Amino acid sequence: MTPYNSAPMTSLMLHSIRMDWPTDWTAVFNRKAPLLMEIGFGGADFLVDLARRRPEANLIGVEVSLPSLKKGEKKLQTAGVTNARVMAGDAESIVRTLCQIDSLAEVYINFPDPWRKERHYHRRLISDEFLHLLATRMPTGALLDIATDHVDYAAWIVERLERTPYFNSRLATTYVNEDNGRLISKYEQKGFDEGRIGHYYKWQRNDTAAPNIFPIPKELPMPHVILTSPLSETEIAQAFAPVKFYQNEIHVSMTEIFQSQFDGKLLVETYIKEEPLTQRLALLIRQREQGDYVVKLHEVGFPRPTIGVQIAIAHLATWLKGLHPENQFVRSSLDEEYLKIKD
Ligand SMILES: C[S@@+](CC[C@H](N)C(=O)[O-])C[C@H]1O[C@@H](n2cnc3c(N)ncnc32)[C@H](O)[C@@H]1O
Repeated sequence: MTPYNSAPMTSLMLHSIRMDWPTDWTAVFNRKAPLLMEIGFGGADFLVDLARRRPEANLIGVEVSLPSLKKGEKKLQTAGVTNARVMAGDAESIVRTLCQIDSLAEVYINFPDPWRKERHYHRRLISDEFLHLLATRMPTGALLDIATDHVDYAAWIVERLERTPYFNSRLATTYVNEDNGRLISKYEQKGFDEGRIGHYYKWQRNDTAAPNIFPIPKELPMPHVILTSPLSETEIAQAFAPVKFYQNEIHVSMTEIFQSQFDGKLLVETYIKEEPLTQRLALLIRQREQGDYVVKLHEVGFPRPTIGVQIAIAHLATWLKGLHPENQFVRSSLDEEYLKIKD
């Protein structure tokens, strides 16, 4: 239990879904400093060590695993470092949505999951596309350090690093098998104990321009459509059928409708897959006091009001309008370009 008069520890955990696109890192850390990122920090020993050794830098540790995030936050707090945060989320989407061009001074990727089976290779973090994405966010001279002890993945990384036009090795070779200056993580030590060999890549962003084919997605205002209908919420729910469609390179799937027993409102379970994120969210159909209906995004789970969400709302509102000849649109906040609702 927290002692009665002790001050609560400052949270060092950030959640990518709540961060601005792009993020103002100077505001997050309350100071302007070079930004370092460790991707997949696991047990966080390397992260804590890096934070301690580099007090002049701001450091973000990115993880998808909640136990690692909690452990990482605790270890940073215990170490008393103030220049590091742990961030929940997927690395690719975080780099793409939260990091501006040339914002990352150093990126560390230690022992990324090797995904041993061939049918899972597409899940490997190190890919031509990911190196290109990093190149758009890293200025000339920025450092990229990778380590693995998985022989096949090591060869895979060699292939991709040797063919990327955007990075060069800082060493005379593509990688080395010993890196004496670094902290050995528990995961790394276990690999050594089991006879595996480390492969350490120390690369650097060169001055070849990397076309930014990964723009930061646009966040749009919260969308809504208002329409009149003589139908009841229950009649609307009964007319619902699951639907999947593809528009503007965005996959939308509306799978189920739920009606609240409390106030009758309807929630439509919806999946929206648009690069670089997949959102599972609820669209709301609710009768307002004046008798008309609003179709909008439900706030639960911090959904981002993207183009995909606008398209989904437009689709749902158009479906609702078509349910009865007397249904009429009243107004809508949808961006004209994606407004496919028709009278
Ligand atoms: C094999 S462990 C290595 C952990 C740590 N770097 C070490 O050397 O001990 C890989 C870590 O990467 C994390 N991870 C996997 N994919 C990720 C992603 N797309 N974004 C962020 N972290 C990821 C996993 O949760 C896991 O903790």
